[in-house]
Amino acid sequence: MLRCGTDIIEVNRIKDAIEKIQNNFKNRVYTQKEIEYCESKNVQKYQSYSGRFAAKEAIFKALSDIIEDKYKIKWTDFEIINDKTGNPHVQINTDIIDKNKIKNIDISISHCKEYATSMCIVEITE
Ligand SMILES: CC(C)(COP(=O)(O)OP(=O)(O)OC[C@H]1O[C@@H](n2cnc3c(N)ncnc32)[C@H](O)[C@@H]1OP(=O)(O)O)[C@@H](O)C(=O)NCCC(=O)NCCS
Repeated sequence: MLRCGTDIIEVNRIKDAIEKIQNNFKNRVYTQKEIEYCESKNVQKYQSYSGRFAAKEAIFKALSDIIEDKYKIKWTDFEIINDKTGNPHVQINTDIIDKNKIKNIDISISHCKEYATSMCIVEITE
């Protein structure tokens, strides 16, 4: 069975949350590796933070059928790691989701000055 999820977010909303709520927001939503990656983007860092935020929402939507208790999921349970070509991949850091049910999962991220968007496709064993 295939499932997809998508999300779009305004970069300024994420920028405001990071600047106003600072570490509380950053550490609640992003892993240390994700923070290091986004901070390395310097002036474009809020686009990368926003792209990851959209990716986590898209992953959640795609996986919603196999998440038993959605209130137990944390933002950091989904980690986005870019490979050396820049291609982003998902790492799932929780046992709430039965990873054996996920045959394949892939995401794509895009961003411009104002918006970031992401989509996720997952193949789930039936
Ligand atoms: C990789 C590339 C596609 C990124 O496109 P872009 O318009 O500059 O950037 P976007 O804002 O749309 O997307 C950026 C995101 O792309 C993703 N990305 C980067 N490199 C990637 C790659 N090799 N494969 C898949 N996704 C990639 C990343 O998630 C990045 O965001 P992040 O760094 O915050 O994680 C582009 O730099 C590139 O190499 N283009 C060549 C395309 C080409 O040759 N086209 C003609 C034939 S189709």
